[in-house]
Amino acid sequence: MKTIQWFVDNNVDTFSSHPQLEEVAKLLQENEVVAFPTETVYGLGANAKSDAAVAKIYEAKGRPSDNPLIVHIAETGQLEELVEDLSETAKKLIDHFWPGPLTIILKRKPNVLSEKVTAGLETVAIRMPDHPVALEIIRKAQLPIAAPSANSSGKPSPTAATHVLEDLNGRIAGVVDGGGTGVGLESTVVDCTQEKPMILRPGGVTKEELEKVVGEVFIDPALENDKISRPKSPGMKYTHYAPNAPVYLVEGTTAFIQELIANKREKGLRVGVIATEETENVYQADVVSICGQRSDLKTVAHTLYDTLREFNNKDVDIIFSEVFPQEGIGLAIMNRLEKAAGHRWIHQH
Ligand code: TXA
Ligand code: MG
Repeated sequence: MKTIQWFVDNNVDTFSSHPQLEEVAKLLQENEVVAFPTETVYGLGANAKSDAAVAKIYEAKGRPSDNPLIVHIAETGQLEELVEDLSETAKKLIDHFWPGPLTIILKRKPNVLSEKVTAGLETVAIRMPDHPVALEIIRKAQLPIAAPSANSSGKPSPTAATHVLEDLNGRIAGVVDGGGTGVGLESTVVDCTQEKPMILRPGGVTKEELEKVVGEVFIDPALENDKISRPKSPGMKYTHYAPNAPVYLVEGTTAFIQELIANKREKGLRVGVIATEETENVYQADVVSICGQRSDLKTVAHTLYDTLREFNNKDVDIIFSEVFPQEGIGLAIMNRLEKAAGHRWIHQH
């Protein structure tokens, strides 16, 4: 299959005269899969009502079929068809954070969406992305759009159209190139089907931000220790985002990290390090990759997937990474870094 590429300008706030997006919407109505930008990462969209369309998503990504998809909508009016009555908590979250990087798990209505979207669960994940191109595509298609991140299963999520093509060229009908994404990490997934709201996946909206709106928010205990219980979000049990070379998370001073690097290089290994602007000049390694600014963790989130992906174009045998405080967006950053590292840590003491 030849993958079509369309280029759009994100600064245009109405796309009503964009013939490219008409074409994209038409392909979605014909049950083809198309990748498009959102404010978090690129999504791989398909008609959420069609088994045939949704099957193509799993096929293109090589995604395990027990991992359900997020349904993307452009207007809150689309909810009525899809889910049962909303709790007060769900209503507050929707009012406050949509459109935006928050996915809410709700009780689905039967027989509306393809069973493949929800992987047999009685709930469905829904989000309204804060991106003019994504919203316009969904509006024009007049459908709920199932869209996982547009990477091959296991790879870092794509934050640029070039990443999508690296993984999926020839496997999907097309990709809409709207430039780099903003947040850089996926949406926060919050379960609103129980009495207490619970974060199943940390992401673009922080726990602290959620708590300002709905009071105490819980974190799925399996995220902290997946040996105790099974994650409620099926996607969280898979390894992800890992570069080809092993990644080690290092808790310690820059001098300690440099010692680790020197030690491996003496043994003839080529060493990469994930550093920040603040520490750019302190390491002598074969590859020093700068992943944003420690003093502004949003910039780390924004750059992380590109940093991880780029390591596969570099010749390194081992990668050491600085770590970040698990607060605010740091919680999501460390969740993704832990997966990339397969939970391998080195502590100074
Ligand atoms: O930012 C994002 O959320 C991006 C963009 C494209 O919108 N999408 C995304 O989708 O990250 P995906 O498929 O890569 O991740 C969806 C996550 C998975 O961890 C999945 O297991 C979880 O949401 N999920 C989906 N439906 C669920 C449900 N009914 N209950 C629990 N978890 C669910
Ligand atoms: Mg994903």
